[in-house]
Amino acid sequence: MAIERTFSIIKPDATARNLTGAVNALIEKAGLRIVGQKRIHMTRAQAEAFYAVHKARPFFGELVEFMTSGPVVVQVLEGENAVLKYREVMGATDPSKAAEGTIRKAHAKSIGENSVHGSDAAETAAIEIAQFFSGNEIIG
Ligand code: CMP
Repeated sequence: MAIERTFSIIKPDATARNLTGAVNALIEKAGLRIVGQKRIHMTRAQAEAFYAVHKARPFFGELVEFMTSGPVVVQVLEGENAVLKYREVMGATDPSKAAEGTIRKAHAKSIGENSVHGSDAAETAAIEIAQFFSGNEIIG
């Protein structure tokens, strides 16, 4: 299996509760390497562009409000099968359905305030990484 990269966001509900280190510990325990990371406050334009695929959904406005409500930590994760592996580490979008040991089971508050985002495919990961990182900010 080739080494792959995925994109992650530690969301405002998690940064507000000082959980960046706790989330990173679960990421690293799973064998993923954090090869890029920065704490930012997303602009409305960044959040709307990032979640453009959800624009028609009833929760879009709420999602953009939430993602711009406080600091987030954007990350590039690297490892074997990183996209799928990180989705397993995160757990189901709805924390009430997330498996034991996952980030969302341990920390997420609700389907909206669900602590982390991870790319759904390698192609999406490349697009999402490029939205927040330039090449020289990723050190593998
Ligand atoms: P994420 O993986 O960041 O991608 C889209 C996000 O939309 C998802 O995580 C959830 O946080 C959010 N989302 C999905 N369904 C709902 C919902 N019913 N209400 C509010 N937010 C939602």
